[in-house]
Amino acid sequence: MRIIEANNYQEMSNLAAEYIIKKIHHTPQMNLGLATGSTPLGTYSEMIEDYEKNRTSYAHVRTINLDEYVGLETNHPNSYKYFMKENLFDHINIAEGHTHIPNGTASNIEKECQAYEDLIKNQGGIDLQILGIGNNGHIGFNEPGTSFESKTHKVKLAESTRIANARFFNSIQEVPTHAITMGISTILKSKEILLLVSREEKNEAVKQLLNGPKNENFPASVLNTHQNVTIIGDKKALAGIT
Ligand code: PGA
Repeated sequence: MRIIEANNYQEMSNLAAEYIIKKIHHTPQMNLGLATGSTPLGTYSEMIEDYEKNRTSYAHVRTINLDEYVGLETNHPNSYKYFMKENLFDHINIAEGHTHIPNGTASNIEKECQAYEDLIKNQGGIDLQILGIGNNGHIGFNEPGTSFESKTHKVKLAESTRIANARFFNSIQEVPTHAITMGISTILKSKEILLLVSREEKNEAVKQLLNGPKNENFPASVLNTHQNVTIIGDKKALAGIT
């Protein structure tokens, strides 16, 4: 596992965007796995700035997002589809048909999960997956206790995750109770993983990832078994890590 330390959130975002953009220049038709949440926002904004200045082309890139809430319409401001459009897709030259996010309003969620798993496989797998980490060690919406063998599936969100995400909603009651997420084995099949960590509140989770046992109670610990993981984090998230 490689660790790159940035002085602050802005520098972390610059480094992460540079990392991704370099990969796109190298493999213009890459399959890029994307994440939502606060952490990658600065990275996406740097990618947009680069697109405006340097015209890095996304015409042949396909994106595959990690997860989506169950029950939110795609035009709901808190759906991850909406988040991605607002914060990245609407500002770069990517065709809507090249962007993939699980459909949280599918009439048959189990079928949708299988279809998403098949889609990833049929696209040739994910070349580079961007990840964040939850305070409880979740990756995607794979909460503690999720099998390392899991594929794309429906999850019941941990109460701590609903509380953490309530900041985006008017109240905790509005936060969906379920989501669709790529499974842990799905994520691990990515050829390369880029984990972004920022803020002091993530420090414990990063320490546990690096020093704790590999255990399904801390989903991110599985990343220790992957051959190609890079962490880019700011000083606060990486404090005390050598
Ligand atoms: P955050 O979420 O980027 O909003 O901190 C990350 C996660 O929970 O996976």
